[in-house]
Amino acid sequence: MADGATDPRTIHLKDYAPFPWTIDGVDLTFALAPRATRATSRIRFRPNPAATATGPFFLHGEDLRLIEARIDGQPVTPTVTEDGLTCDVPPGPFTWEAVVEIDPESNTRLEGLYLSGGMYCTQCEAEGFRRITYYPDRPDVMATFTVRIESALPVLLSNGDAGATGPGFAVWHDPWPKPSYLFALVAGDLIPHRDTFTTMSGREVALAVWVRPGDEGKCAWAMESLKASMRWDEDTYGREYDLSVFNIVAVDDFNMGAMENKGLNVFNSSAVLASPETATDANYERIEAIVAHEYFHNWTGNRITCRDWFQLSLKEGLTVFRDAQFTGDLRGRGVKRIHDAAFLRSAQFREDNGPLAHPIRPESFVEINNFYTLTVYEKGAEVIAMLKRLVGDDGYRRALDLYFARHDGQAATIEDWLQVFEDATGRDLSQFKLWYSQAGTPRVRVEESFENGTYRLDLTQTLPPSPGQPDKAPMVIPVAVGLLNPNGDEVVPTTMLELTQPRQSFTFEGLATRPIPSILRDFSAPVILERDAPEGEAAFLLAHDTDEFNRWEAGQTLARRAIRAALDGRAIDPAWTDSLRAVLRDDALDPATRAVLLARPSQEETAQALHAEGRTPDPLAIFQAHETVDLHLAEGLHDLLPGLHAQGQVPGPYSPDPGSVGRRSLGNAALSLLSRLDGGAAARAQFAGATDMTQTVAALAALLAVQQGEAELQAFHDRWSGDRLVMDKWFALQVSLARPEAAVATADRLTGHPLFDWKNPNRFRSVLGALAGNPAGFHDPTGAGYRLLADWLIKLDGANPQSAARSSTAFSTWRRLDDARQALIESELRRILAAPGLSRDLSEMVSRMLG
Ligand code: ARG
Ligand code: ZN
Repeated sequence: MADGATDPRTIHLKDYAPFPWTIDGVDLTFALAPRATRATSRIRFRPNPAATATGPFFLHGEDLRLIEARIDGQPVTPTVTEDGLTCDVPPGPFTWEAVVEIDPESNTRLEGLYLSGGMYCTQCEAEGFRRITYYPDRPDVMATFTVRIESALPVLLSNGDAGATGPGFAVWHDPWPKPSYLFALVAGDLIPHRDTFTTMSGREVALAVWVRPGDEGKCAWAMESLKASMRWDEDTYGREYDLSVFNIVAVDDFNMGAMENKGLNVFNSSAVLASPETATDANYERIEAIVAHEYFHNWTGNRITCRDWFQLSLKEGLTVFRDAQFTGDLRGRGVKRIHDAAFLRSAQFREDNGPLAHPIRPESFVEINNFYTLTVYEKGAEVIAMLKRLVGDDGYRRALDLYFARHDGQAATIEDWLQVFEDATGRDLSQFKLWYSQAGTPRVRVEESFENGTYRLDLTQTLPPSPGQPDKAPMVIPVAVGLLNPNGDEVVPTTMLELTQPRQSFTFEGLATRPIPSILRDFSAPVILERDAPEGEAAFLLAHDTDEFNRWEAGQTLARRAIRAALDGRAIDPAWTDSLRAVLRDDALDPATRAVLLARPSQEETAQALHAEGRTPDPLAIFQAHETVDLHLAEGLHDLLPGLHAQGQVPGPYSPDPGSVGRRSLGNAALSLLSRLDGGAAARAQFAGATDMTQTVAALAALLAVQQGEAELQAFHDRWSGDRLVMDKWFALQVSLARPEAAVATADRLTGHPLFDWKNPNRFRSVLGALAGNPAGFHDPTGAGYRLLADWLIKLDGANPQSAARSSTAFSTWRRLDDARQALIESELRRILAAPGLSRDLSEMVSRMLG
């Protein structure tokens, strides 16, 4: 069993001990060859004065062929095992040298050194460096690196600043001590898109985005995003870049979005390449956010790194929080907050309320790659947002200044992080720290009363049990509240209530009339609010709330009620469309805000809500209810839709500025409703006339959602079959928008398409990930979806365990389904677990899901 509690490979936070040696410097030489790359290392070790215990000299290493090893120049014969080597070493400082041979061409795991489209590249986080050479591959061992690359390829890159270069070689030196997970090497026939940035102290930095020939016209946006990020981090956090070079490289085969290697970020090409013809507004926004995220890691991750992988949220939660601030500043805080909250609810709450629930700082793992999760990243960012609310903007800034001053150059912990907040603000955070150790989504129940001018809110918090955590202690939950008068005026502006007890009352005195409360403004905590709101309150807040998030939330409340009515066969209250009509007509309200007001909760949210009430969600019934509601909304707004759609036709050349993006998102939200009424006529016309990918994809999606668009799909294929990133959209759209009864067959058929390259993570996700994203299709009652995914997971696991493990999360909600579906999924999970040679990655995930 690969269960966290019983698997002998389990790593525990409580077992942390420092490495018994430190490193003065690392020299690496790579003689690149596809099947037999030679890596020569020269590492200067000395005993670590801070070590708590001495152990044997152990270096990690996986899939390496050791050619020779020396200590202080003398040949030695280490004991080599599957996961590393041990060797007798002298008591004082010594120099370790090793030559290993590796095989980048057969590396399909995309960890360590591999080939992607003829280009050498690396991915070392979390534990990929041990697939490059023998090394103490742990984040608390920091060293300066000098790297020499020998290859006939024209472009040879590594971390830090460029050193000597000549025919067939290049040398790089990184002056900043770093852990091995931040190492990177790239070699290939690449073209740079260059620019420069002058830092706040006047230093010039050479910037480049490196891509394969043919993609050089798609780099401008990533470069703009990089410069904007560099400026923003100076302005907002006082953080200046610290090398004379910053390189970004785009690779087609990449497991995640991107990687913050020091001075040499490596990106999934989907997170770099954009042109108006090939990328949507959403792609542009994602590129901007990921470029920023990786750049911000230079301070929150690289200059200050993590002591061990249990502290992952220290860098990831903080860096997600920082990139969200950046996007909010550039594109509007309200809409960004709404997008993040909707995503958190669909995706992170799903994780937090099932068998994969884990704290932001887990206590044990078998495979760390399985903990690069929505909880560590997104909930981790929410916890920082709460901290900032509790200590205020000034307190937050003081704490961050102290964090950078105190921990620069260190491998830090969550304790260090909270300590700077305590020291900078004087606030006791011992109870707040529970957010890092307790898993699950808190529920806050709201009761209210009004008497003699005093309004009282009674808040009750509960935190459901999660794997390994049957009982929980009360948390610190900041609940932002504002009160409105019945005439719509705000009588009490936003006030932060701090809920720290299981049950607590808060009063507001001196009110002339019973107020209408606006609770959890700006989504002030990642919790589920439970409240039986009086009739008419949501419509009132949708019309009057000054808080952008809660105004949207009021619309969501009405939409949830409509979905529930459709599900239970009741008539839908016309209050929803009536109140939406008023805000949609309000031209003073910016289009982006109106677009999010049109969005309905996801099918996943509906399933979660039913489950929370003890009902068994039926994916097919949920799909049908959402369809009914979409049609109801379209009919209720029918006269407004053509006008709203027309607002999406932005004149002039394509631009991803927030105003244009907002207009197109409103226009396309209207278009998808309109196609439910006009048989797809408007969408067909938009597709035919579209000159950018945003308008093209929106039209195609609107058609596919109403079972139209065969001809358009074919035209799209013929036009774009040579572009990998665009074809990912072609695959994904068909699967995610297929009717429930057709989705599995569509996915199955597409896995036989000549362009279905299953070893490419983007392409695999565009079919099998899209199937999981079509709940009614995936949960086909015959179990065909489960079988198809399980077959592919077993196959993918043999090549790329990390991606297979990630895709397996499609099964994680299985316990909330009906008995028949549970039985079907359980047998697939058991079949996967019994597959010969199953990876540690996938076996851990499946075992956790089986519980
Ligand atoms: N640190 C990267 C980021 O968040 C993610 C890399 C994760 N890679 C992995 N194999 N787990 O930007
Ligand atoms: Zn990150």
